[in-house]
Amino acid sequence: MPRITVIGSINMDLVIRAPRLPRTGETLFGEGFSMVPGGKGANQAVTAARIGAQVTFVGKVGRDIFGEELRTSLARERVDTRYLFTDDHAATGVALIVIDNSGDNSILVAPGANMRCNPEDVDAAAEELAAADVLLLQLEIPLETDDYAISLAKRHQVPVILDAGPASQRAVSNLKQIDILSPNETEAEALTGVKVSGLKGAEQACRSLLSKGVGTVVLKLGAQGAMIGDRDGIRHIPGVKVHVVDTTAAGDAFTAALAVALGEGKGIDEVVVWANHVGALTVTRLGAQTSLPTREEVDRFIKP
Ligand code: RIB
Repeated sequence: MPRITVIGSINMDLVIRAPRLPRTGETLFGEGFSMVPGGKGANQAVTAARIGAQVTFVGKVGRDIFGEELRTSLARERVDTRYLFTDDHAATGVALIVIDNSGDNSILVAPGANMRCNPEDVDAAAEELAAADVLLLQLEIPLETDDYAISLAKRHQVPVILDAGPASQRAVSNLKQIDILSPNETEAEALTGVKVSGLKGAEQACRSLLSKGVGTVVLKLGAQGAMIGDRDGIRHIPGVKVHVVDTTAAGDAFTAALAVALGEGKGIDEVVVWANHVGALTVTRLGAQTSLPTREEVDRFIKP
């Protein structure tokens, strides 16, 4: 079983389904409300644990009811929470999510304690990190913390996967140290300035990221699958057709699947085919962590 350290965000997601997003100044009735554990980091940690990894999570919550609930639910998923710290000065991260009729979402995040996850917190988990098969990061905590974690991982020859979400023009300071960079279309566009609409744009964005020194780029294309760019060239791995209920956390599930399959020693093309299935299963269900599949579900989905 691969050992994966995830350093990143943890939020309570407040989710409402609505026919569309409200306009400025408008009050709109939605159809039901749910409170679901989320945060890109925690979503990736939970996916990795469910699909077959031993996972340690490093992050920060506030000293409040959401923080307590998130800690309990992460531990219930068999994720090691020894390095989930509690901050006395900031609230637990919260995300307001609206899901429209087509399953697309809009997410507004109040990061709170996530932005107080600092290099000292990474240091506290240094031993775990050094022993990991993969370090998995995103951009929902301070960049300097990501940078610090990357340099520590590299010192111990631990491969680094960076999920480039949420979209930011500021990337980690040394993309050359990233083994696999996995942005979605918007994130790739923010990092490269290349408009990613269609496969041609995706190809161009991959080239641009490779020219910045990234080892391998896996550009997530939603229903269209993913584009891989590495020293063997650029190629498209088609997506898996499913009925879309909610796309929340599908990208997180995909990136976590990359980490697990890589930790299991699979080659990158095989890894991406597998990750496409994990992402596809996730969009068939509502919510972030409520939608993440188990290993058995993924196996059954691939070979019914
Ligand atoms: O990627 C989905 C996640 O983004 C949500 O769970 C939300 O908390 C935000 O971090």
